[in-house]
Amino acid sequence: MFDAETFIEETVKKIKEEVTGRALIAFSGGVDSTVCAALVNKAIDDQLIAVNVDTGYMRKNEPETVKKLMDEMKLNYRFVDASDKYYKALKGVRDPEKKRKIIGELFIRLFEKVADDEKIEYLVQGTIAPDWIESGGGLRDTIKSHHNVGGLPENMNLKLVEPLRDLYKDEVRKVARVLKLSVSEKQPFPGPGLAIRILGEATPKRTEIVREACDIVEKEIEIAAEKENMELPWQYFAVLLPTKSVGVHGDKRAYGSVIAVRAVQSVDAMTCSFSNIPTNVIDRISNRITNTLGDKINRVVYDITNKPPGTVEWE
Ligand code: XMP
Repeated sequence: MFDAETFIEETVKKIKEEVTGRALIAFSGGVDSTVCAALVNKAIDDQLIAVNVDTGYMRKNEPETVKKLMDEMKLNYRFVDASDKYYKALKGVRDPEKKRKIIGELFIRLFEKVADDEKIEYLVQGTIAPDWIESGGGLRDTIKSHHNVGGLPENMNLKLVEPLRDLYKDEVRKVARVLKLSVSEKQPFPGPGLAIRILGEATPKRTEIVREACDIVEKEIEIAAEKENMELPWQYFAVLLPTKSVGVHGDKRAYGSVIAVRAVQSVDAMTCSFSNIPTNVIDRISNRITNTLGDKINRVVYDITNKPPGTVEWE
């Protein structure tokens, strides 16, 4: 049985022994990196610098929310707006693994720059067990390169510290609850961000579309879970497909893109089943997406695939 209190005690002790200089944490504001930052902060205090990168592929209002969280946690932090760099690096890139590798590598290069400027020796990452298992860790096949594993360049100068490496998500949440972190129940969001929810090229324009659609899905599902006795799914979001279909706007022919809505139940993200979202909620999501993004999106579909054979994200 996993005991969060013992884990916290032992991990803080281990970090104190292992990390003898300044450390940098890649802070996304998700459960994993927030728990990680809290643990390392307990161990080495202001020797830790949290770095949040705005990749341009964040959800609506996310940069502001993350800044607020870092303030609340009294972290010593730096905020890097790198959206232009990411858009440029991903220009013309359509292959999911290439996207992941480019994003991961750029993260490391940005962190190395901060590390150089601030004389930092250690890189702390919130990698958890499924991240490295599915990135081909151990004897397994690579399903997809999770950005905090697969993107690490071989010639990295920083020493890697991964305190949550052996934990599964439900265990990380238990630790977050003991640490009383406000993000303990937050749904997971992948490191590469919205870039892997845009099938095909992740241009700024296409990012705006999926950002808006994701926001609608999140809000409608959270409202329904609160007011309509619906179970909150493990994860729920929108994906922009690289396909166009014919529709009708007023009395005119329309030719627009497709949004797939995905909501899944899971325990540890290693497997999942699609959520049974009530039809009225699906209906509201579909209407809001086509009303708000009507000139670009004229069709919304619901993903009814489990993992396996699908994965949670589409890329
Ligand atoms: P998949 O799509 O592999 O996702 O079934 C399993 C869980 O992991 C999240 N995910 C990621 N998390 N970096 C992360 O930190 C990544 O590169 C990454 N890719 C997927 C996904 O959202 C789901 O919760």
